[in-house]
Amino acid sequence: MNFPDLKEARKRTSNKVNILYDRYNIPERIMNIGYGKSYSILTYGCQMNVHDSENISGIMEELGYSRGENYETSDIIILNTCAIRENAHNKVIGILGRIKHLKEKNKQLITILCGCMAQEETIVNLIYKKYPWIDVVIGTHNIYELPLVLEKVIRDKKQEISVYSAEGDVIENLPVKRDSKYKAWVNIQYGCDKFCSYCIVPYTRGKQRSRLPKDIIKEVEVLKNDGYKEVTLLGQNVTAYGKDLNSNYTMANLLEDVSKTGIERIRFVTSHPWDFSDDMIEIIAKYDNIMPYIHLPIQSGSDNILKKMNRRYTIDEYKSLFYKLKKKIPGVSITTDIIVGFPNETADDFKKTLEIYNELKYDLAYTFIYSPRNGTPAALIKDEISLEEKEARLHTLNQIVNRYAREANQKYLYKTVPVLIEGPSEKNNKVMGYTDTMKLVNVEADLSYVGKIVPVLITEVKTWSMEGVIKVD
Ligand code: SAH
Ligand code: SF4
Ligand code: F3S
Repeated sequence: MNFPDLKEARKRTSNKVNILYDRYNIPERIMNIGYGKSYSILTYGCQMNVHDSENISGIMEELGYSRGENYETSDIIILNTCAIRENAHNKVIGILGRIKHLKEKNKQLITILCGCMAQEETIVNLIYKKYPWIDVVIGTHNIYELPLVLEKVIRDKKQEISVYSAEGDVIENLPVKRDSKYKAWVNIQYGCDKFCSYCIVPYTRGKQRSRLPKDIIKEVEVLKNDGYKEVTLLGQNVTAYGKDLNSNYTMANLLEDVSKTGIERIRFVTSHPWDFSDDMIEIIAKYDNIMPYIHLPIQSGSDNILKKMNRRYTIDEYKSLFYKLKKKIPGVSITTDIIVGFPNETADDFKKTLEIYNELKYDLAYTFIYSPRNGTPAALIKDEISLEEKEARLHTLNQIVNRYAREANQKYLYKTVPVLIEGPSEKNNKVMGYTDTMKLVNVEADLSYVGKIVPVLITEVKTWSMEGVIKVD
């Protein structure tokens, strides 16, 4: 048994990060442990978790398990959890009730909780005391140990908690079962050292560890040869890529090298404004296969709040970066994240957020009410602002977010843009896909176009999507 420890999770040392090419392996004796049995994964949280679930699927299938039709009838249920806000927690706690019920009916059912909640000291203590029927808690740093942990639980029939609050290694040889045949997630960096005062990620994901360029480029080359059209380079702070590698190799270098693989589309999330270099902007502008789409979280329009958030930039610095991007990368779409109701955010602070939004007119924003996270510095601040007030602020902000989202889409009307067709559209008899600026388009076309990038004439725009037809010359 190994429990998470908040104090350990907070530590950062200059210890060398191990890049391990053979850490994951399945002993012969459990090779077919899952034969004839099924698994389901319920994934919460960010793209990183979505991709981790693809790795977990890879591991489960190597053990012989097959994917279940739904979680209610599966032999193993895996909850890949998120800790970023209280509501992410609540979703998981909600589903636990239903899973407990399934477990009462089927004693053979195995339940596994992993992801960022598994790295939280308070949560794991709670699970240990109150949820003895959760069979496995496994952390984000040691998912490669899943086969052995599973073997132990099947053998001993006792709850197993296996979480390390270490800074983390880089495990290079995890198997992967990808959800899409056309779009792939590629990790370029794990962890985060920014320690924004409200955020739990540095505690749940460990220190910033960049993968080696050669390993990333090889992965992209393999994807391209397998017919993939788009890769998303993933990290909490991709603009800081390479800073921990003790070389001069930067995100700009990586983008250029990935671009040269010739894969058709490349994007990256998330860019912290602080490390966004001019070299990076130049490379994005220079190469056609780097998508003109940048997610650039601003968090607040008030310098006072940004300082308390420990974001390390001022609004003036952010604005100059924003305008540089708009100028140097024609047609670039910029989206953002905003937190309203940070402890003691005044009406004036919030007004500044509205003002900056009205000035920058983002293509889209993901907006959140601040949620105190156990162990973070901001959670210790006594907050005088009521939840009602915060909800009202969120509502006001969302109205302008929607207005500008629609305005941004309006610019596409009657233009022809490239769309990567992904599959059938949910709403009508069409197919759906995304432009290189990440706009959702429903296209009048049949399934033969799936997996192709096609020119689409936009015939109608809405707030969240557009309609179009394939343009034939
Ligand atoms: N690494 C990314 C953000 C990852 S978390 C970055 O720094 O840009 C995604 C978003 O969740 C954040 O941008 C922030 O807007 C929001 N978020 C993080 N912690 C939060 C909290 N405690 N309460 C509310 N929103 C939060
Ligand atoms: Fe969280 Fe800040 Fe790191 Fe983003 S940069 S993951 S918001 S600590
Ligand atoms: Fe959530 Fe962890 Fe991602 S807290 S947002 S799943 S890094």
